[in-house]
This record gives sequence, structure tokens and C-alpha cells, in this order.
Amino acid sequence: MKTYSFVTAKKILFGVGAVEQLGRELKDIGAKKIAIITDAVIKKVGALDKVTGMLEKGGFDYAVWDKVEPEPALEVGEAAIQFTREGKYDSVIGLGGGSVMDTAKAAAVSITNPGSLKGWVKEVFEKPLAPLVLIPTTSGTGSEVSNAAVFATPEVKYVLYSSLMYPDIALVDPELTRTVPARTTANTGIDALCHAIEAYVSLKANPITDALAVEAMSLVAENLRAAYAYGDNMEARSGMSLASLMAGLAFGNAGTVIGHACGYAYVYPATKFHFPHGYSIAITMPYVLEYNAISNLQKHATIAELLGEPTSELSLREAAFRSALAFKKLLVDLNMPTSIKEVGVTKDMIPSIAKNVFKSTAHVARNPRKVTEEGMVRLFEKAYEGKLECGT
Ligand SMILES: [Fe+2]
Repeated sequence: MKTYSFVTAKKILFGVGAVEQLGRELKDIGAKKIAIITDAVIKKVGALDKVTGMLEKGGFDYAVWDKVEPEPALEVGEAAIQFTREGKYDSVIGLGGGSVMDTAKAAAVSITNPGSLKGWVKEVFEKPLAPLVLIPTTSGTGSEVSNAAVFATPEVKYVLYSSLMYPDIALVDPELTRTVPARTTANTGIDALCHAIEAYVSLKANPITDALAVEAMSLVAENLRAAYAYGDNMEARSGMSLASLMAGLAFGNAGTVIGHACGYAYVYPATKFHFPHGYSIAITMPYVLEYNAISNLQKHATIAELLGEPTSELSLREAAFRSALAFKKLLVDLNMPTSIKEVGVTKDMIPSIAKNVFKSTAHVARNPRKVTEEGMVRLFEKAYEGKLECGT
């Protein structure tokens, strides 16, 4: 009998209109003077007004720092820390996508711990975080329930990772995702699906993460196309918010595998691309599913079925390989590329892209099939041609 563990945010608050309970929740965790970490887009679309409105109603002292950038560099994190320390805030709200929530985590660390972000990456900090509330405005990253924060430049990626870094409250209100543009809905929604799939097949999966991953996959299958097609469809938006949260809970404990490692591989020195996170993973995912299928035919057959492929007439092997086809069909419906040739990858880049996969050592170690350089070259060659084994 294996031993399992499962950790996450101290409290999850989910539902349309959940943001209206923010004042009461902040009082419960002892927040008085609050730094709101966000970005300029969130300010424009009205989500920030909703949050500040709640704070004013509750009589809180607060200030807004809106300079987070997509995939923030270390300097962005350090600037947020400087703002938080200079203003002597006692608590933090992160309102935005994954980059914003990651930056908010660093700001909450800085209230209770000496030192700088770069130092914490190397040595890990010691004291628990100041009160922290994370409020996602996209459905995808799951950062509101994870204990990691990523800061990157095109050359280097810094990941701050600590068992102390879970927020006090993950507040998920689908209404805040209503105005997310269709392209971002697709890129973030498909990231949530990859979190669920990869957590499900990970060597670190357990029955708890499996249950969450299965439900997340089925919610994405039911809702992502509709949320992409018509952003005001709040039923689809709610389904995607829940899918993202559940996938976050799954991969926050089981981890992701080479789907993410392949997505991270389209970088320096192999290429000069700067693809959005979910997009870079999605364009290779059908070929990752095909590579991994033989490691666990049953789980891959279940993925195919959850994503809507009829499998009852098929052999287990055939059903497992349909998982790749099911994913590819979703890419087509979301107007996303189904080969890496379409995004500008050339054949001569493939050997060094394949090498980059091995930089994500933890992802490679959790992958259900042994990862070889030859195997990765073959995987990217298939992704280049856009051809699956089953001929589609
Ligand atoms: Fe991701």
C-alpha cells in the first residue's frame, strides 16, 4: 500500500458572485492594510473595480500595484516586493492570471521574510507567508491552489517552490472571466486540460488526484468549445473555472509530465520563439499522448473517452491512441495549429528542441514512459509533420 499526501490552499471559495464575500474573508484572516497585485489589463476590464469596491465597503486600507507582465522576469517580482515592503502592507491580494498570482505569492513572502527573490529561489525562505488571497481572472493556470511561482527570462527560468507558499484563500468567481478574449480562453483552457491529462498519467498520481483529473477533463470536454465560441456563456465559463481549479488541485500534487517539458523546450538556444504558455504545450500535446499511450493503455483510453471519442468498439490499444486524435480535434475547433511547422519551427531546430526537454528534470522523471533523446527527436518530427500514428 502506497502512502499518499494531498495539500492545497487553506480555503477554496468558488461560485458566481463569490467575490462579494471578499470583505468577510479578509477580516477572518486578519488583513488590514492590503497590497493588491495585478496588471494593467485587469484594471481596464473592470475586475479590479469589483475588488476595490468590496475593500472600500469593508473599510480596508489598500493600494494597487498593476505592473505585472506576462511570464514575469525576476525584476518584476523584485519590484512588487519593493512596493509591498515600502508601503508596510500586512497582507496581499493577487488578482489576475498565473503571472499575477505568482508575483503576489512572492510579495506575501516578502512581508514575513528577509532577503530577496533570487535568494529564496536558491535557499528557500523559512517563515510562513503573510495573509494571501488569490483571485484568478482566467481559467487555466491553477496557480491559486499551487505552491509554486515562476519567474523567467528567455534564457533562464526561476521557480520558487515551497510548502509554505499556499494561499489562505483561493477565491474563484467565474464572473471575473466573462470578458477574457476568445484567444486567451483557448490558450488558458487548453493549459487546464494539459494539467489534468498530465497529472492523470504522472508517476506521482494517486486516487485523489485521479478523481480530480478525470472530472477536470470531462468539464473541459463539455465547456471549452462553448466558452471559446461565446464568452458570455456563463454556464460554459463556470465549467471552465471549475475545470481549471480541479486540474490545479490535481497537478499541484501529482505534477505535470513531458507535455509541459515539451512546451518549455521551444526556447533559447533552440529557438527564439516566445509562445504563450498553454499554446506552446498544446501544439505538441497530441504527439506526447501518442508517445505515452503504451505506458498505460487504460488511462489513455479513458482520456479518449472523456474527450468524446467513441471507444466501445475498439481494442484497448486503439482506444488509447485515440486520446491523441481527440486532443487534435480540440485544437482544430479552437483554431490552433496541429503541427509545429505551422508556427515556424524548421527541421534543423528539432535536435536542439529535443535536448531542451531534458532541462525539465522533474517533468521527465515523473513521465510514465522513459524519456530518451531519440524518442523526443521522433516526437518532434511527428509534431513537425502533424501526422499521428493512426494516420490522421
Ligand atoms: Fe501549465
